[in-house]
Amino acid sequence: MIAIACDHGGFELKEEIKEHLTKRNIDVKDFGTDSKVSCDYPEYAHEVGYAVTSGECSLGILICGTGIGMSIAANKIKDVRAALCTDCYMAQMTREHNDANILALGARVIGPGLALKIVDTFIDTPFSNEPRHIKRITQIERI
Ligand code: RB5
Repeated sequence: MIAIACDHGGFELKEEIKEHLTKRNIDVKDFGTDSKVSCDYPEYAHEVGYAVTSGECSLGILICGTGIGMSIAANKIKDVRAALCTDCYMAQMTREHNDANILALGARVIGPGLALKIVDTFIDTPFSNEPRHIKRITQIERI
């Protein structure tokens, strides 16, 4: 199950991503927002963050205008590793090396075609499980 949420800046892209994932037979849990009416991104970021760290959802996707606010807010939650990606290389590497569990996207930065490719890359790329990466990920939380 993939958790997804957005603010008003990411609403249209969220709907496209949901449709795309549904076509791929991937279950999606939508945490809102449900319109283009202005809203505050942190509450959505936190809901998806907790959905992922609780184990309810395996991965999360957060979308705002830039993806920056969502990633900053989500990364405040323990064990969230939210990665803002603007291309497929970043999406692949952050799964392989950082075991990122949330993808942040900027709907005003990238087009919908690229966004869907980034989503596919993020979801389809497994963590490398290499000891050096496991060690570094462990170090992130040691603060
Ligand atoms: C909303 O206008 C905008 O600030 C938000 O979508 C996001 O880009 C914040 O980081």
